[in-house]
Amino acid sequence: MYRSKIIGLGGHVPENVVTNFDLEKLMDTSNEWIVERTGIHERRFVTQPCGSAELALPACRGAIKDAGISKEDIELIIVATTTPEHQVPGTSSYLQALLELAPVPTLDIRVQCSGFIYGLSIADQFIKTGQYKHILVVGVEVQSVGLNLTTEGRDVAVLFGDGAGAVIVGRSDDESAIMSTHLFADGRHANDLWVDAPVGYQSPRISKEMLDEHRQYPKMNGRQVFKNAVIRFPEAVITALETNHWTREDIKLVIPHQANLRITEAIAKRLELPLEKVYSNIHKYGNTTAASVPLAMVDARKEGKFSRGDKLILAAFGSGFTWASAAIIW
Ligand code: COA
Repeated sequence: MYRSKIIGLGGHVPENVVTNFDLEKLMDTSNEWIVERTGIHERRFVTQPCGSAELALPACRGAIKDAGISKEDIELIIVATTTPEHQVPGTSSYLQALLELAPVPTLDIRVQCSGFIYGLSIADQFIKTGQYKHILVVGVEVQSVGLNLTTEGRDVAVLFGDGAGAVIVGRSDDESAIMSTHLFADGRHANDLWVDAPVGYQSPRISKEMLDEHRQYPKMNGRQVFKNAVIRFPEAVITALETNHWTREDIKLVIPHQANLRITEAIAKRLELPLEKVYSNIHKYGNTTAASVPLAMVDARKEGKFSRGDKLILAAFGSGFTWASAAIIW
C-alpha cells in the first residue's frame, strides 16, 4: 500500500463579476437580503458560451504546474460537476480532449457539492493500491446559465456562481498525506435540492411543456437544506478527527464547501472552533458547488492560512443529500 497526497493545486474563475446590485436589476431582491442571509457579495458568471471543461482548463494547467509534473504524467481524470455541457458524455471527456490526453481514462462524478471530496477519495484509493501515480481531480461548475434569474427563482439564483478548482493527487514519500476520507449520502432528500428536467423516465426527456413549467431550473427546500447541513457538516468533521485521533487544537484549518456563510458560522459554533479556523471566501464567489472546496484551498493557501505539514479538514454537504470529509496533512 502506498500513501497519497495533494501535490498540486489550481483554481480559475471567470473575469465577469456579478454583484448583488447587478442581481437587483434582474429580480426583486436586495444586497441587504443576500448579504444577511448568505454572506455573498458577488459571484462570477461566465461570458457565454463557456462550458465546464473550458472553464476548468486553466485550473488544471495551474494544478499541473504547481505539482511540477507534465500533463503526460496524468493517468486518470476525475471531474466532479453538476453542470456538464451535455447529458452525454461527461465533462471529463471534453476536458481530456482539451488537455490532449487520449487515451487517459475519464470519470465524471455526480454528487453535487460533495463531488470534489468524493473525487479525492476515489483518487486516494487508486494511488494507495499503486494502480496510478498521478490523478487529476477537478471540481467545476457553470451554474449561471442554468439559473432562473427572475424573482421566481431568486431563492436559488442569488446563491450560485461559476468557478473551477483542480488538484493533482500523487504518491507521498514524506509526512504529507490524505489521511482519511469519509463519504455519506441520504437519498431520501433527493428532491430537496434538485433539477427536475430533462427527465429520464419520460419521452421526450425535455418538452416545451416542461420548459413552460420551468422544470429545467434548480429548486430548493432551503430550510431543509440548512437544517441538515448544520448537522451533517460537523458530524463529518468529527468523524475525520476521531479517525485520526486529532483534537480540535491539532487542526490548522477546516475548509468547508462554501454553501452559505451562516452555515459556516454554525459549523464553527457546533465544533467549538473560532471562526478564523473555518475558512470562508463565499463573499467573492457565492456557492460554486463542486468547485468551492478546491477554490477555497487555493485562496486559503494564497492568504498564508496553511503551509506544508499543517493538518487540514475538508468538508462538504449538498444536494442528494451527500456529505463528506477528508483529513489531510498538507
Ligand atoms: N431576495 C429577497 N427575498 C427572498 C429571496 C431573495 N433572493 N429569496 C427568498 N426570498 C423571500 C422569500 O420569498 C420569503 O418571502 P415570504 O416571507 O414573503 O414568503 C422570505 O424571503 C423568507 O424566505 P425564507 O425561505 O424563510 O428565508 P430563509 O431565512 O429560510 O433563508 C435561504 C433562505 C435560502 C437563505 C436559507 O434557507 C438557506 O440558507 N438555506 C440553505 C441554502 C444552501 O446553502 N443551499 C446550498 C446547499 S449546498
